[in-house]
Amino acid sequence: MDKKPEFHGSDIEQISQYYHIPQEDIVSFGANVNPLGLSEHVKEQLASNLDVITRYPDRNYARLRDTIGAYCHADPEHIVVGNGSTELISLLISGLRPKKALVIGPTYSEYARELSLVGGTLEYYNLREEKDFALDVPDLLDALAPDTGLLVICNPNNPTSSALACAQLEEILRFCRERGIFVMIDETYAEFAPEPEAITAIGLVPKYDNFMVIRGVSKYFAAPGLRFGYGITSSRAFLDVLHRHQNPWSLSSIGAFAGRLMLEDDTYIQKTWNLIDSERTRLFNELRTWKGVKTYRPYANFILVRLLREGLTSSDAFEHAIRQGLMIRDCSSFRSLDGEYIRFCIMDPEDNDRLMACLRGYLEV
Ligand SMILES: Cc1ncc(COP(=O)(O)O)c(C=O)c1O
Repeated sequence: MDKKPEFHGSDIEQISQYYHIPQEDIVSFGANVNPLGLSEHVKEQLASNLDVITRYPDRNYARLRDTIGAYCHADPEHIVVGNGSTELISLLISGLRPKKALVIGPTYSEYARELSLVGGTLEYYNLREEKDFALDVPDLLDALAPDTGLLVICNPNNPTSSALACAQLEEILRFCRERGIFVMIDETYAEFAPEPEAITAIGLVPKYDNFMVIRGVSKYFAAPGLRFGYGITSSRAFLDVLHRHQNPWSLSSIGAFAGRLMLEDDTYIQKTWNLIDSERTRLFNELRTWKGVKTYRPYANFILVRLLREGLTSSDAFEHAIRQGLMIRDCSSFRSLDGEYIRFCIMDPEDNDRLMACLRGYLEV
């Protein structure tokens, strides 16, 4: 076999080829996507409305922005639609071109990639393992250099699954507003939280115009292929910059059509939250009893696990699980995550049981 490549959470095709396991036999605990799959209602509606593709989407996505506004309790005037959260992360960074950015890490690598494209300095403020990756807000504010242009927060954070409460976010936003620092808050995983209202910054949008919340449907609505994301900010000036830089019709008409259906699908939304919340509690409670690992209270739909057994690496654990068709995330590629860590998302109860059975004897001392 060639030297093992570095795999990311959604690299199922490469993993299937490398290990000679058919894709359909792999359970993806790495991609953080809702195990329920697409809602049946959305599937049916899509199938009978395919002609939507024959039309351009509305340039202003007016109906879609109304739906997002109703879903998030936000003003549609504050909403911008994009091609996945990824396009909005990219537009935000290229529109702002910060000379210096501070990213709270360890975190999702795409922020660093986008920041590297616009030049400037990138610094990390690292969450501390000894504090279970909980953020010490006064310490962060001390670390913010006066010439920082952008602060990046992922909430809940990937891969630690830790989260900041709304009051902490407000403290940060107030401080940053005084110093002219813009804040990007990636809430890709916020709807999975035990209490989404307690951690989302959307309620602060009318009060602070120095930040943007970014969200999408890839994870919660199991639709990463749709490429529908949105941003929420009350900065008129910044919305204008985004619109000037964004290609027209950036989200396809089918994406806009399906997006509306998803955000209005209350039954699916509730079913998802119930499944994730109960399975997250069950798995976390079990993992906490294992001697060979340390876990951290999860706020997203995935759990970070530190391996404590001497000599056992995250790569060993990945190999062990993939041989049984269970694809977890080896976290060794996450910058500044010192130690051996794996991450896995919540799947169906039966699949979760399979993963627990696979890891139980292997990771426990
Ligand atoms: C924190 C975070 N933000 C954004 C994304 C990408 O989201 P989208 O598919 O909406 O572009 C991911 C994907 O893994 C992610 O983990």
